[in-house]
Amino acid sequence: DRHLLGIESLSPAAITEILDLADSYVDFNRQPARHADALAGATQINMFFEASTRTQASFELAGKRLGADVMNMAMQASSLKKGETLIDTATTLNAMGPDLLVVRHPHSGAVNLLAEKVTCAVLNAGDGRHEHPTQALLDALTIRRAKGRLHRLSVAICGDIAHSRVARSNILLLNRMESRIRLIAPPTLLPAGIEAFGVEVFEDMEEGLRDVDVVMMLRLQKERMDGGFVPSEREYYHRYGLDHDKLAFAKSDAIVMHPGPMNRGVEIDGTLADDINRSVIREQVEMGVAVRMAAMHLLARNWRAATAEATA
Ligand code: CP
Repeated sequence: DRHLLGIESLSPAAITEILDLADSYVDFNRQPARHADALAGATQINMFFEASTRTQASFELAGKRLGADVMNMAMQASSLKKGETLIDTATTLNAMGPDLLVVRHPHSGAVNLLAEKVTCAVLNAGDGRHEHPTQALLDALTIRRAKGRLHRLSVAICGDIAHSRVARSNILLLNRMESRIRLIAPPTLLPAGIEAFGVEVFEDMEEGLRDVDVVMMLRLQKERMDGGFVPSEREYYHRYGLDHDKLAFAKSDAIVMHPGPMNRGVEIDGTLADDINRSVIREQVEMGVAVRMAAMHLLARNWRAATAEATA
């Protein structure tokens, strides 16, 4: 494929190929003076229309470690402020000849639309409630390294499922890799018809966490609640906040994940988040660089093969 827009379009073999290459980049990233040339001569532009710490920083590091020239567009200071549209902004940058556009946007579907208008490769760094494919891939790599496999695992995804692109991409990926998914949330934070995605739904943490291998916590995404129902943080923490007591309902070796940014004392207890015997939250961040290196490397391989074929 030319782009990476979502997990939806990835086969199990394609997912495994990305994870295998990313695994090799984990070791590479732990070396001093790590520098490779898979993206030498390529230009990468990062366009983040929404706040980010982990995704933007790791895409930038990933590009630089593979030898790309990386430019971060300051979208807040761009001509969007003067009324230029998303598509005009993207086609303007495309005319400067980048090879990779990494795009985050608050509206679902905006990154797919943009990808139709440009000639370079586009990577979705999170669009609205739709998809966050590199997050699901880094989560999968973290799980695979901790548990040795992705199939026949029981994974609980807990919290604000309704507003979460992370949940959606993870459900697609884990289903495709033959894990079982349990969603745990109050009904107000579950999208209608979610059972059609082949998941089990629970309202209660004790029931939902029973015997799971992986517990993935999600942030309450108040910025996407559009004036709708916003739960009280105190009550929410009492019922759905993960601490060591609630984690005891899961398997004794269950790992705890969170895509970040976390709200300590809302969806997760700070002591548990920092407990290196149970929490793999820091590993997730490390895997993020490796997965983004692998994703961009494989897209570059595809466009180089297409160029070679066109010129043969
Ligand atoms: N997980 C994630 O997307 O984090 P950022 O918003 O900090 O990029």
